[in-house]
Amino acid sequence: MAAYFLVKGEQTVKGRITINGAKNSAVALLPAALLTEEKVKIDNLPQITDIDKLLDIMRSLGASVSSPGGRCLCIDGANVDRFAPPGPLVNQLRASYYLMGSLLGRFGRVEIPMPGGCDLGPRPIDQHIKGFTAMGASVEVGHGLVKVNTNGLRGAHIYLDVVSVGATINIMLAAVKAEGRTVIENAAREPEIVDVANFLNAMGAQVRGAGTDIIKIQGVKKLYAVEHSVIPDRIEAGTFMIAAAATGGDVVVEGVIPKHLEPVTAKLKEVGADVELGPDFISVKSRNGLTSCDVKTFPYPGFPTDLQPHMMVLLTKAPGISLVTENVFERRFCHIDELRKMGARITLEGRTAIIEGGRSLSSAPLRAMDLRGGAAFIIAGLMAGGDTIVGNIKYIDRGYERIEERFQEVGVSVQRFEEGEN
Ligand code: EPZ
Repeated sequence: MAAYFLVKGEQTVKGRITINGAKNSAVALLPAALLTEEKVKIDNLPQITDIDKLLDIMRSLGASVSSPGGRCLCIDGANVDRFAPPGPLVNQLRASYYLMGSLLGRFGRVEIPMPGGCDLGPRPIDQHIKGFTAMGASVEVGHGLVKVNTNGLRGAHIYLDVVSVGATINIMLAAVKAEGRTVIENAAREPEIVDVANFLNAMGAQVRGAGTDIIKIQGVKKLYAVEHSVIPDRIEAGTFMIAAAATGGDVVVEGVIPKHLEPVTAKLKEVGADVELGPDFISVKSRNGLTSCDVKTFPYPGFPTDLQPHMMVLLTKAPGISLVTENVFERRFCHIDELRKMGARITLEGRTAIIEGGRSLSSAPLRAMDLRGGAAFIIAGLMAGGDTIVGNIKYIDRGYERIEERFQEVGVSVQRFEEGEN
């Protein structure tokens, strides 16, 4: 049965919330665990469906996964003996592409269907392939399958034509056990990349420069057991920060790394919210009214594309014209049509959405088309007059852990129903 959220309108997000582990780190750390035959313990994992699916894939390859409790999992990859993850599972999530790097590092070969994921426009993997090829792999792409073979990977100098999180991490995974030195130039600098590099280094890898645009990796023969805790999810934190500013609320997100949220705090200050930073928390308090502003998404440390829909929703309330330019994904705008149903005035010119703000939203039945757009609809529902139904929430569950309960923690009514209930 399809589930949906019922979001009560005209509510104010208020309270404190402790942020979960980062989805986009976790989905790379788990495949990375297969680079060793020894046991790996990863803590602070978010409980989301993308992780469940990834674990199913890893089990199908021979990994055993046990849970000592809480948000911790132990991965034992000793018996992993397959290099061809099953298509139907792989197709369900984008992050399955990290199995390319990790299985290449482990076995020197991999056969994997083209990865799935949210539809944000074209999402090629040419830069991943460019990296593997430079390291001596032969790559065949055809019939929806990527086949990579090598006679042992060799370190290489790789310049990424596009700043890509996925390609940077995948090349890092393939390179840690390659012979010699790999240099990735024009690397992505996201905090999740640093988290993965720290994890690999704790396993015995030699990765230097993660977090800058040049990453140097000296290959090692073997990687060892490790215990690691996932960094906090800056996108989950940003979701609640924006929700507070958009609903005239007041929230403290706790357990965060404030530095990771700099682009978000800067924009929230610009729209007129009071933002205070502590060592591991950020408080966002809405003052009277919001000011329009322009937002341009860019790779880190730019404003994150993963918070673009949420920010667009907020800007529907700010009087005046705001421009939101999406520079990372060509077509990450599926949320606009749904927001129009709520009375938002948004037009799209190329990659820029023009928002005529200062209008109240009214409730409408909405359907999530992707993970972040879906979460942004909950914020829109909280701002709107009347109750909003958000359907197709399987997308939201992929990357937010029980988001309805999280919103309840900050004092608003978002309820999950199965179709036919209520
Ligand atoms: C990661 O996707 C995240 N996913 C995305 O989060 C995030 O939006 C994105 O990085 C940007 O921050 C995961 O970490 C699993 P990219 P990824 O490679 O790796 C182009 C979310 O909602 N490109 O950095 O797929 C690409 O088309 C998700 O949590 C190439 O042209 O993103 C895009 O325009 C959605 N060739 C740009 O680069 C390539 O080989 C950035 O993509 C690779 C990418």
